Amino acid sequence: MNIKLIKKTKENVANNLYVTFVTSDELSALKEYKLLQKAGFKAEQDTTCFLYGKNKLFCGLEDKSSESIRSSCSVAIKAIKTTEYKSVHFDVKMKTIKEVVEGIVLGGYEFNEYKSTPKKTKLKNVYLECNDVKAFSTAFEEAIIVADATCFTRDIVNQTPEDLNPPTFAKLAKKLAKENNLECEILGEKELKHEKMESMLAVGRASRHDSKLIHLTYKPANAKKIISLVGKGLTYDSGGLSLKPATSMVTMKMDKAGACATLGMIKAVSELKLDVEVHVFIGAVENMIGGDAYKPDDVLVTRNGKTVEVRNTDAEGRLVLADVLDYAQDKVQADYLFDFATLTGACMVALGQYTTGVMGHSSLLKHTLSKSAKNAGELTGSLPFNRHLKTLLKSGIADLSNTASKPYGGAITAGLFLDNFIKEENKDKWLHFDIAGSAYTETPWDCNVYGGTGAGVRMISEFLKEV
Ligand code: BES
Ligand code: ZN
Ligand code: ZN
Repeated sequence: MNIKLIKKTKENVANNLYVTFVTSDELSALKEYKLLQKAGFKAEQDTTCFLYGKNKLFCGLEDKSSESIRSSCSVAIKAIKTTEYKSVHFDVKMKTIKEVVEGIVLGGYEFNEYKSTPKKTKLKNVYLECNDVKAFSTAFEEAIIVADATCFTRDIVNQTPEDLNPPTFAKLAKKLAKENNLECEILGEKELKHEKMESMLAVGRASRHDSKLIHLTYKPANAKKIISLVGKGLTYDSGGLSLKPATSMVTMKMDKAGACATLGMIKAVSELKLDVEVHVFIGAVENMIGGDAYKPDDVLVTRNGKTVEVRNTDAEGRLVLADVLDYAQDKVQADYLFDFATLTGACMVALGQYTTGVMGHSSLLKHTLSKSAKNAGELTGSLPFNRHLKTLLKSGIADLSNTASKPYGGAITAGLFLDNFIKEENKDKWLHFDIAGSAYTETPWDCNVYGGTGAGVRMISEFLKEV
């Protein structure tokens, strides 16, 4: 499906399928009002009415907000893809071009890699019509880059654990580096041992795939700021010896979504050619069972020297991130240090499935990122640290336990665990994003369809455009 920005002409209007967005207040002013009324169309949000004879698709809007427009565009494109139309025209305005592009590209996204006969759509071209192509083109091109990077992230998240394991993840990162002119360094198990990353290595020990640390760099000539993005890359999380129940294990290929998001972010930033130096650090590991598996009762020595009692091998993400965060801080003195992880089921309990949990010490930074998320069409909620929750991570035998002694506030105690691996000078530069709920969905919502959502990519692209 191609998407093009073109100038509005009278001829186009007469001969092509047109999409019209309408609120219930505007309905009676339309010249097709009587017909639409007959069809029972009330212009409710996410409802559509096709007038095939008139080459028109009407889409309902609750209001003119970004959310409503993006969601409605997603519904529209899905409806058009089931018809025989080869092309479609949308009217765009400067204010909403981003939402329209996102709705079409992200809402129209399909992942067909594992279908023997992928669904065929006749739709080839989507035309966005405006009055001044030159004036609209930057906004249009930027929106396409970010939406494509989000789809790139979704594609990797959706890959099966058989296809996407730590070594193939490293290969994929190398390919992206080559295509986008990024530096790429991969650390294998020998190098990880040399780096004393015993915590990360323990998690991956029972896997038949070697663990990998992936470091990608985008270095523009005149970088104004430096950012390090750390991603949890559990290509599969079986829970380890503290095995997950059968139904909870399904979808755990998505435990690499944080890592996939950081790849999407560096792809977007390098294609937007932003003046920000970006470092991506990924801990790619598979959490499995077997005679060689790490165990509850083990005590691990992390890269920064702190010891951790393992009480649950399913709280593995924090063990991987502990070492990768420490490594990232030694390698790069960044202005911002953000990590992305499908870290806790508790985050979904706290905020619901649609919202990313944001944790950190700097209220200002949390606030700034929540504004970027809002502008980018992502949902975030701040989960506050406190000293009482911190005490729940005490261990009788080691410096720390990998699980809290009480279950309440599980997303926050996981964030506080990571805080132990943030150096004093970086406390206010660090944010932790728990995307356990927002990174994957089995039911469509907004512009998200079944599978990976690409959570984080739009938010960080927006943030980095502004810094
Ligand atoms: N990967 C999971 C968290 C998760 C759960 C992500 C559901 C997405 C959907 C993580 O490794 C995990 O299992 N966390 C445990 C922590 C607990 C053992 C302290 C959890 O959330 O139950
Ligand atoms: Zn786990
Ligand atoms: Zn996990």
